[in-house]
Amino acid sequence: SLPNRVTIIEVGPRDGLQNEKNNVPTEQKLAFIHALQDAGIKEMELTSFVSPKWVPQMADAAEIVKLTKKVGRQFVLTPNQRGMDAAKESGAKSVAVFVGVSNSFNKKNINKTTDEAMGQLEQPIKELIREGYFVRACISTAFYCPYEGKQRVEDVLALCQRFIDYGVHELSVADTIGKASPKESHELFYLLKQAFPNVLLTAHFHDTEKMALANIFAALQAGVDRFDSSAGGLGGCPFAPGATGNVATERVVHMLHRMGIETGIDEEKLNDAYQHVATYVSK
Ligand code: HMG
Ligand code: MG
Repeated sequence: SLPNRVTIIEVGPRDGLQNEKNNVPTEQKLAFIHALQDAGIKEMELTSFVSPKWVPQMADAAEIVKLTKKVGRQFVLTPNQRGMDAAKESGAKSVAVFVGVSNSFNKKNINKTTDEAMGQLEQPIKELIREGYFVRACISTAFYCPYEGKQRVEDVLALCQRFIDYGVHELSVADTIGKASPKESHELFYLLKQAFPNVLLTAHFHDTEKMALANIFAALQAGVDRFDSSAGGLGGCPFAPGATGNVATERVVHMLHRMGIETGIDEEKLNDAYQHVATYVSK
């Protein structure tokens, strides 16, 4: 049976904008974020504390966090201790970390193998949790890798288990390049739900093959009630060639509402929110 209510985690200000070539002024990002909050978004990835040489668009991370209204759960994405220190310094209370299932992807994205990345994250994640931060782990390339192709389900489960052992509160499992089919979505999320019943489980779909809504419906049927999405369908990882934007929040919300599933989000205000950054987006 389907859930009565679904939580949307808006990733537009982070995943959505990170790949945009045009520099979006900080004030416009803040207007976007606050309009999304006003539309009823309660959980959001605001920005990322990554190397500005790798991802110039996120260079204003500290300012974004400092100037964002503190309501709901506002995440910042961090790859390492340095990012976590900057996140704490900025006043963030919820941190997202990210590692892919695929070694080759991790080398391109964070210049580390999967094992190196997990090794360097163990103590900092445990420390964040001891200090009361909310930690979400984003599992990239859980279906396909742009360099290695199809990933093994056993490897996805093993990586998730490692994050669970570190104590994370949430797993956000991602179809980084938007290649999963609804059958694969149902199979993986069904297994994940059985394997990790006590953690928040979120599905993160990119929409390259335009199957993201179908993948979400399949994941809903597997028991998932949390979805990452991006206003306007913005987004993509700069180090995952071929990936297009995240599934558009307005399309997910509309589909859910049409099925009688509550999200707490106002569709009209949501559409308006995207206008704050629309003119900067090169499409
Ligand atoms: P590196 O070059 O191997 O590391 O990069 P380094 O330690 O040698 O540092 C290089 C420079 O970056 C140094 O500065 C560091 O100080 C600095 P320099 O001495 O050259 O002036 N630095 C930092 N600066 C700011 N914040 C930091 C930080 N760390 C080091 N945290 C590194 C390694 C991880 C830094 C780099 O590879 C990086 O920043 N990667 C980020 C890539 C990224 O943001 N990808 C997109 C997000 S993931 C994604 O989109 C997928 C997701 O949506 C789920 C899905 O769809 O799959 C989450
Ligand atoms: Mg993504």
